[in-house]
Amino acid sequence: MRLEGKVAIVTGGAKGIGKAIVQAYVAEGAQVLVVDVDDAAGKELQAELGDVAHFLSADLSVEENAAVIVAAAVERFGRLDVLVNNAHASRQAPFVETTMEMFDLSFGTGFWPVFWLMREAHPHLAASRGSVINFASGAGLNGNVTQAAYAAAKEAVRGISRVAAREWATDGINVNLISPLARTEGVDAFIKAHPEQEKALSSGNPMKRLGDPREDIAPVAVFLASADAQYMTGQTLMADGGGIMLR
Ligand SMILES: NC(=O)c1ccc[n+]([C@@H]2O[C@H](COP(=O)([O-])OP(=O)(O)OC[C@H]3O[C@@H](n4cnc5c(N)ncnc54)[C@H](O)[C@@H]3O)[C@@H](O)[C@H]2O)c1
Repeated sequence: MRLEGKVAIVTGGAKGIGKAIVQAYVAEGAQVLVVDVDDAAGKELQAELGDVAHFLSADLSVEENAAVIVAAAVERFGRLDVLVNNAHASRQAPFVETTMEMFDLSFGTGFWPVFWLMREAHPHLAASRGSVINFASGAGLNGNVTQAAYAAAKEAVRGISRVAAREWATDGINVNLISPLARTEGVDAFIKAHPEQEKALSSGNPMKRLGDPREDIAPVAVFLASADAQYMTGQTLMADGGGIMLR
């Protein structure tokens, strides 16, 4: 088991890609604090996994919760090795119709909590020589239409990830990102609101399909949390069927 003895925090871990990562981490021997606002889904996942996972109902957009979340992981499991900043909520609109509320939602769930949790987790990750895994998006890398608030937050996350990767490299902490493409509730809601974009999402990459959270994305998050990735930092890994080939 590649994550034996490790303790992870996974935000937005009750559903979608986050849930798949929690399940994969537990299968690889880790103990996981699952943070989400969806109580029903969180409790269901905890019941499925037992004591190796603990669900904490917390709204990431409240700054004070970052300290509560990190303390909960350390008090319950005794250490912290991996911080997975997966949660992000956003709404789409054409550029000129994008409002401050949309920016507040996107940065409030997908940027500020990443910064707060990384800052709070740093001493524990330095002690364990651990890992941070953040999430980027093709929407930011490509500049997809209607995604101004979301794209801006995602690229801001890439920016601070590279800074932390450089500053914390000698602390033994690696900071990397996954840019995924996978069928989840979030993507289903996006397709429902923008049916014209479904084709581009499913057949717009060389593999001609949307990824599966468990089969296609979670294994990349296991790799980045494991010793196999110890010489990698500041990188964005594309798990998107080859849709974007970074150079
Ligand atoms: N699915 C994709 O194809 C895709 C593509 C590019 C990037 N991403 C990124 O990957 C990550 C996971 O995507 P997903 O599709 O699984 O997302 P999702 O929308 O399906 O799930 C997000 C989870 O975060 C939780 N959450 C939302 N706001 C929260 C808050 N304020 N506090 C606590 N929890 C909160 C939700 O309840 C949910 O469980 C996100 O960062 C997303 O932006 C996904």
